[in-house]
Amino acid sequence: MTVTGKPIDRIDGRLKVTGAAKYAAEFNQPRMAYAFPVCSTIAKGTITAIDQSAASSSAGVITVLTHKNAARLKAVNPAEQRNAGIIVIGEDLPPLQDNKVHYYGQFVAVVVAETYEQARRAAALVEITYAKEKPASDLKTELPKGYLPQKNFGQDVQINTGKAAAPLAAAPVKFEQTYTTPTEHHHPMEPHAAVAVWESSDKLTLYETTQSVMNSRAIAAYFLDLKPENVRVISPFMGGGFGGKGIYLQPVLAAMAAQAAKRPVKLSLTRQMMVTNVGRRCETNQKIALGAGSDGKLTVIRHHSDVYTNVSAYLEPCGSPTQTLYNAPLREITYKVARLNLGTPTFMRAPGKTPGTFALESAMDEMSYEMKIDPIEFRTLNHATNDPLTKHPFSSEYLRECYKIGAEKFGWSNRKSEPRSIRDGKYLVGYGMAAATYGGIRNAATARVQMSANGDVKVMTAASDLGTGTYTVLTQTAADALGLPIERITVEIGDSNLPPAPPAFGSMTVASVNPAVLAACEMLRKDLMGLAMADAKSKLSGRRAEEIAFADAKFFVRGDSSKSDSYADIMRRNSKTMLEACATTVPVSGTPAAPCMVAPAASEENSDNKKYSFHSFGAQFAEVRVDEDLGIVRVRRFTSVHDVGRIMNEKTARSQIIGGVIFGIGQALMEETLHDKRWANPVTRSFADYHVPANLDVPPIDVYFINKPDPHISPIGARGVGEIGITGVGAAIANAVFNATGKRIRDLPIMPDKLL
Ligand code: MOS
Repeated sequence: MTVTGKPIDRIDGRLKVTGAAKYAAEFNQPRMAYAFPVCSTIAKGTITAIDQSAASSSAGVITVLTHKNAARLKAVNPAEQRNAGIIVIGEDLPPLQDNKVHYYGQFVAVVVAETYEQARRAAALVEITYAKEKPASDLKTELPKGYLPQKNFGQDVQINTGKAAAPLAAAPVKFEQTYTTPTEHHHPMEPHAAVAVWESSDKLTLYETTQSVMNSRAIAAYFLDLKPENVRVISPFMGGGFGGKGIYLQPVLAAMAAQAAKRPVKLSLTRQMMVTNVGRRCETNQKIALGAGSDGKLTVIRHHSDVYTNVSAYLEPCGSPTQTLYNAPLREITYKVARLNLGTPTFMRAPGKTPGTFALESAMDEMSYEMKIDPIEFRTLNHATNDPLTKHPFSSEYLRECYKIGAEKFGWSNRKSEPRSIRDGKYLVGYGMAAATYGGIRNAATARVQMSANGDVKVMTAASDLGTGTYTVLTQTAADALGLPIERITVEIGDSNLPPAPPAFGSMTVASVNPAVLAACEMLRKDLMGLAMADAKSKLSGRRAEEIAFADAKFFVRGDSSKSDSYADIMRRNSKTMLEACATTVPVSGTPAAPCMVAPAASEENSDNKKYSFHSFGAQFAEVRVDEDLGIVRVRRFTSVHDVGRIMNEKTARSQIIGGVIFGIGQALMEETLHDKRWANPVTRSFADYHVPANLDVPPIDVYFINKPDPHISPIGARGVGEIGITGVGAAIANAVFNATGKRIRDLPIMPDKLL
């Protein structure tokens, strides 16, 4: 009778389709004013003069903030920020602090007015004079002046520098190619927005669309120099995030505006600002070299990535899939970063893994052709059963099963390896596949559960639901742990006043938060059962815990359900109006729950973390149809098989993979942010010119899960789904295009001009 794993509907689905779910920009306040930013019209230079007289006297204007009169924020200081609990910020550039411009569209002023229209009108009247400089806009041109990054989130990034050259030269079979991917943008359905309310001079409430209320709280507290407990961030629902939400400082800008206006202020970004002010995936230029023996076994893999950033230290970790896939004895993974005057690169839909698997998995396909081995066979031959770098075994790993199931379901045996072998009328048909990979990330989390007098239960934790199903899977875990129907569980998330949970980054929510909810529910259940066992009026009186089972909101003696005691009766007889339990779980398999506390960082003492390498794996299969006359590629069907540990909800998990595959179709065939290199400004600034897959671009997508619990990640065994869905999709499609046409496209997206 358990509900975990069942494909139940999203419990917030009805709220969303009826409009009852409240999003950040909908938290209107009494006396609320509206802020509209002024964006730089140059990409590099200095502000020499600001004339705000026309804006200030425009109808409804309350105040105009520029670097001259804006509040001074605390300076960027990564070490201090970490101490203050900031997990990550999107760019090292607090708004309105000086007269320097680093990229086109940078916020250079903000107008606050009575209405949105008045603020927007007045923003257009702010006259800014710039001393322009020539912006750095081209990756290849600027690369020689770039730098070699050493660390990314504490991990060494330059691996075995210089070690690959000799073994490659000596390899009987060698392959080397360059793959390029363009700048891409997030574009969640819900643009970034914040409503800032100063409750008093040192107490702030932010309604914000964020992937982490805790990170947002830490950011606001740090930069505005407030006590963290005096900042409350509320974000019950989100219209997507994809890596770009909860790390930018526009909520701080809203708070600065509210402070100056002495009113609550709403700041919501336009779709155009989503292209300049809230992160992006940078362009990548990746060189892959493979060396193999004549037996088809790889001896060496080299993966070098050229990427860019601006004033921030972000690194797109393209080499990360090459850390975990394939058994070559030697791998060299290196990076070089150019500094450009473009919007800030940041996390986006499987950072690094998405462009990285395009390069690596295209190269693996090319090498399989060179060696005349079937691509699945070639991958299986080089399969890594242990983490190739740490040598630790994977905590659980079923990649070869993914290949096998995918090949069967997709009908891989119908593939003809010779390109241009299959035609369907005037179309060329091709099959392609690729491996998928993503880290199995788990972090500390705290959850509190409360049972009310009638036995209903509330679950509280500061997790976030990007729209992917956090409310639903937490409900399922609590329902099973307490023997309650899902209707009797309420989940409260998205509020920084709740017990701390990790951010909804890195596909870590399910793996991190569900164990905390499970532990808290088990504590509550034991406490409640203890009350019954100690109560002479209970039919469970004098029984031992092992004799007692639970279901349907009651305890009963195993094998004799007539001897039962309902939760409501136990609460009533003990005069309890509320029973509460709270647990913090850290990523140590099987660790007992600690008492409620602030979530510590992932434990270094984690024995399983030291013994195992935690990763998810998958296999992606695409069939494409290519119109040679027009150069148009259509994905005709897609099969996606994943090993992500235990599946908590078959429906929401499937939907996440379908979403990921659709992202991948966008990556392969459409998505591309273009800049005018003279001025370093984006020319793809709306959905009219930034193309994403729409209904007719998306074929039937078949999703399968291995669904074997990971015995080491947590007692639940779920590694989470999320980002793995997009990884490998770009390569699977590009490989299918080659199989169809004989043309190898190494530069995404695969637009018609590249095939003609
Ligand atoms: Mo994800 S790009 O780590 O939000």
